[in-house]
Amino acid sequence: MKVTVKANTNIALVKYWGKKDENLKIPLNNSISMTLDKLYTITTSDIFDNDHDQVIFNNKDASEISKNKIIKFVDLFRNEYKRKEKLIIKTENNFPTASGLASSASGFAALAKSINEVFELNLSDIELSKYARIGSGSACRSIYGGFVEWQKGNRDNGEDSYAIQLVKENYWDIRMMVVIIDDKQKDKSSTDGMKETVETSPFYPAWLDTIENDLNNVRQGILDKDLEKVGITMEHNCLKMHSTMFTTRPAIIYWKPATLAVINKVYELRKLGVECYFTIDAGPNVKILYDQNNSEKIKKEIMSVSDITNLIECKVGSSALII
Ligand code: DP6
Repeated sequence: MKVTVKANTNIALVKYWGKKDENLKIPLNNSISMTLDKLYTITTSDIFDNDHDQVIFNNKDASEISKNKIIKFVDLFRNEYKRKEKLIIKTENNFPTASGLASSASGFAALAKSINEVFELNLSDIELSKYARIGSGSACRSIYGGFVEWQKGNRDNGEDSYAIQLVKENYWDIRMMVVIIDDKQKDKSSTDGMKETVETSPFYPAWLDTIENDLNNVRQGILDKDLEKVGITMEHNCLKMHSTMFTTRPAIIYWKPATLAVINKVYELRKLGVECYFTIDAGPNVKILYDQNNSEKIKKEIMSVSDITNLIECKVGSSALII
């Protein structure tokens, strides 16, 4: 049975940075994200009458590394549910891969859901979220639309480490602009970066000590549709995460000059009364949260910053869906 799934990517408002278990991808802290409607992965899976799996990525044979990652992921399901069939998997992102735009998040969410359908496993969203997490931590949040919280859980086997939806996509009509400064593959993966941070940054304990407060503010801010509360906390949380990266040995600096120029532009806009807030992941690109009424002003001002290659204005996106 051939099945096609579309999963949207998500951007964390309170970040996941650091693992308790590298293999099972169990995080050291909860995180909260917004699912985006314009950046997604489409994955088609089908039973392949052959002795090997086939993986097509963005219309070409996948590289050995991506193919092995995907096959290892399918094997999790084959081992657990005693399935032998090989699969043909075609997957496509509508945006650049591994550039800090969360391609692995939408990628593994789409893959988990498509395997569930093709093997007719009838797994719940919670189960799919746990599987997606093992593919890439942040993918566990992309099973759902709207605003989502990944609960780190307490168990060593990861059984209680999965995401839940806080509110649906139609609850709060807010925008996130993805400001693309550089869409090349990053030098250091999030996986390696966060491991090095946990091991060497003297600031990492402060990250964990202050995370509860950020989570409470953002959760409440979303429920109250309070842009200022969510935005101020999101910026602070982002700067704390990057401070742990800067103080890793050797230092991890994902920012480019234009990253800082966009941050300054956001501050300038706020001084002029245009409410907007930034966040940055493991890459140079900046994401800006704002109300749609300010959309045109923000677009115009951000486009005036040099070295910006593209702007993508997103609404709150929906859950991973069969299409
Ligand atoms: C900075 O989910 O890509 O985007 O679990 O090792 O695959 P792995 O990492 P990944 O890390 C995402 C880090 C982040 C913050 C976030 O999305 O919460």
